[in-house]
Amino acid sequence: MGVVPTVLVLPCPAQGHVNPLMILSQKLVEKGCNIIFVTPEFIHNKVVSSMGNQAGGDNGRSPIKLVSIPDGLGPDADRNNIILLFDSILKNMPAMLERLIEDLRLKDGVRVSCIVADFLMAWALEIARKIGIRGVLFYPSAAAMLALQCSIPKLIEDGIIDSDGLPTTKKRFQLSPSIPPMDTEIIWWAKISDSITEKMVFNISLQSMKTLESTEWCLCNSTPDLEPGALSFVPKLLPIGPLLRTYDHDQGVTERSLGQFWEEDFSCLNWLDQQPHGSVIYVAFGSTTLFDEKQFKELALGLELTNRPFLWVVRKDSDCSNKVCFPNEFKGNQGKIIEWAPQEKVLSHPAIACFISHCGWNSTLEGLSNGVPFLCWPYYADQFFDKKYICDEWKVGLGFDLDENGMISREEIKVKVDKLLSDENIRVKAREIKKKLMKDVDLGGRSSENLNKFINWLKE
Ligand code: UDX
Repeated sequence: MGVVPTVLVLPCPAQGHVNPLMILSQKLVEKGCNIIFVTPEFIHNKVVSSMGNQAGGDNGRSPIKLVSIPDGLGPDADRNNIILLFDSILKNMPAMLERLIEDLRLKDGVRVSCIVADFLMAWALEIARKIGIRGVLFYPSAAAMLALQCSIPKLIEDGIIDSDGLPTTKKRFQLSPSIPPMDTEIIWWAKISDSITEKMVFNISLQSMKTLESTEWCLCNSTPDLEPGALSFVPKLLPIGPLLRTYDHDQGVTERSLGQFWEEDFSCLNWLDQQPHGSVIYVAFGSTTLFDEKQFKELALGLELTNRPFLWVVRKDSDCSNKVCFPNEFKGNQGKIIEWAPQEKVLSHPAIACFISHCGWNSTLEGLSNGVPFLCWPYYADQFFDKKYICDEWKVGLGFDLDENGMISREEIKVKVDKLLSDENIRVKAREIKKKLMKDVDLGGRSSENLNKFINWLKE
């Protein structure tokens, strides 16, 4: 028997960051590692509830031990306020994490051998260095976004961004001939909300870049089949993606996936079974997108106008889940509306025709891995660049055009759905990419081999 490494995994506290690191944790468990999955309390409670009757949690003997540490904020604090949350995390969590590792050693006899930290939680690797254990970063978005971060000094020198990271004028630029051209519209840290938040996120990512310099490598949820240029631009990146959930059996999955903040509505799978193959528009905008009421109504009427079946995720916390937001004319007879989908199961269902998506990186990878064409509706951060990849680089989707009021009209939705679904080239491309990605994660594939390389390093 070799050494059983205990890996402490620290995601950034958001669904789109917890998901890939939970999947990675499950893969590491399959390969014989123990995992301590650490989140602040408000996330921990959601992750624990996703465990349902499965063994584990704080007191269980599951190889994934879920542990919480306080983020330093009071119970009623607004954790959607990124400045408040990150300020408190940075002030409080490092000492808490160090104490946790010490307590695990003294009280439970558990020696953490490595920390895997989300890129935005890179401070944790300072703790790793201080107490003499290993640390690696995990980059949850497209590798091209890290290539962009690596180019910050050059972007400042060329006058594309100022020293706070904010774009000076609208400009097009290219990081390298093998990375698709970018423009100031896709600088992800400058597409978050307001300039104060954006400056803060920029500063956190500058700190993370310093940490990157002193780490051996940085895991990322990508593959050279998708991003050859960006991956060679940042040689420290070890692509192990796409990180996808594995299901024990294909039929009748009703067990909540570990790490899901909301309960998946599995009834939509039975509904999909009753729809013709390749007929359903799947509509979902990830875990944080909020809709303007007018745009929400237009989307509802646009879906109706397509005269096709649709499966639409309207999150309970999205403000528009109440009936008032649905316009009177909206009947929804051809559709099914749910609060949270088993997204990967939905995307792999033969009834799905296309995916209207905000282009979050996880959703992007999940759509690609199932060969589903996209209609891109990005909202913030890295989603604008993911749209570029989907439409211009991989050519597996179309974007929506805004009308004179800055809205996506119901007519535009109908036109683009019809256009996408009559485009055979896009479908062929989508199938080709799916095939390549499946090869990457299969036994002997590039991502699968990289994961083995990482595990061997953990066991050294
Ligand atoms: C955010 C950013 O948008 C993303 O670009 C970044 O890289 C990570 O953080 P989010 O907006 O939530 O994430 O989108 P996405 O990256 O697509 O992640 C959403 C996750 O929730 C996906 O894994 C998706 O499968 C899951 N999901 C979404 C469901 O399981 N059910 C749903 O109904 C909707």
